[in-house]
Amino acid sequence: MKPMKYLPVFLLLTACTQAPKKDRLIMTKPFGNFESQAVTEYTLINQQGMELSVINYGGAVTRLLVPDKNGEQGDVVAGFDSLAGYLQKGNPYFGALIGRYGNRIDKAGFTLDDHPYQLDANDHGNSLHGGNKGYDKVYWQITKLPGDSSLKLTYKSKDGEGGYPGNLDIEVMYTLGSDNSWRIDYKATTDKPTPVNLTQHAYFNLSAGSEPTILNHNLQIDAEKYTPVDSLLIPIGRVDGVTAALDFRNAKPVGRDIAQVAGGYDHNWVLNKHDASLRKVAILSHAASGRGMEVWTTEPGLQFYSGNFLDGTLSHTKNGKPYIQHAALCLEAQHFPDSPNQPSFPGTILRPGQVYTQTTIYKFINIQ
Ligand code: BGC
Repeated sequence: MKPMKYLPVFLLLTACTQAPKKDRLIMTKPFGNFESQAVTEYTLINQQGMELSVINYGGAVTRLLVPDKNGEQGDVVAGFDSLAGYLQKGNPYFGALIGRYGNRIDKAGFTLDDHPYQLDANDHGNSLHGGNKGYDKVYWQITKLPGDSSLKLTYKSKDGEGGYPGNLDIEVMYTLGSDNSWRIDYKATTDKPTPVNLTQHAYFNLSAGSEPTILNHNLQIDAEKYTPVDSLLIPIGRVDGVTAALDFRNAKPVGRDIAQVAGGYDHNWVLNKHDASLRKVAILSHAASGRGMEVWTTEPGLQFYSGNFLDGTLSHTKNGKPYIQHAALCLEAQHFPDSPNQPSFPGTILRPGQVYTQTTIYKFINIQ
């Protein structure tokens, strides 16, 4: 036996077995170029071997490895295998940061301090997720923070971008906790009054590829009310009690009543006990894998979107799998859609001298 023949294998094995021993780790990998800037994929790894990967483009989370009931890691977020996937027309905001205003603003306009503002109309005459080039389509600077469990993402949004007033300085921290939590802390300041509503658009499927849809997932949302919408998904201004189909106060399978909701779930639930403190507001679970996910937030609303517009046509998907309708779902913690035009909704206007903050945590648990 020639020892040299086995040396590379030995080194590889040593490298593989040593990596998880380190408490925390951040790895980087080139991920292409966007607007002449290098895009890097950063991967945070915790002591349980959970991994969270993020790219500069859109601050998008490209991969989230979470253990199942047997400790097997599986990727629970929808995404693409290359930057080309993220850049494709019709990328439905996979894993991205959303702003300046998450969800829709009626007729792409609002009046603030007696001044009318016109936004990009990118959704049937309304403005969705910040307009034509929302924060999902910009380059975020990423910095590794000491301790190797957090990344800081920053973006300076210019006065007038997408039609919004004021230069907005944004800082988002992604932290991978040793308790298998992905924590997102947002902070923003402005030099002119402006609406701000930031959120994260990860699409989850806790089966990690073993089930093509999320219809068998159980969901519980701590909300008695929701904001009814018109046919273009603009709130009609009321806050109503949840209908039977929208009642998730007790956990139920996503697919149980979905046929009763025209188009599928795409609504804002008015979360109970909103006082801007961090509280648990929802639990998603998938019995077969034993994976569960708690959602904690400081926000008053939760947009539960059941992946209704996915239709299997996206290219560059991970492992070439088609993302068919309901392949994955979003639980976007945020203020209510169209708040700048709805005086009765919690306010979303940030003024110079104030600091916008929001925190949301997706915490992964074993449900068995
Ligand atoms: C919205 C959906 C929209 C989707 C885009 C969600 O936040 O509520 O209506 O189609 O984002 O992928």
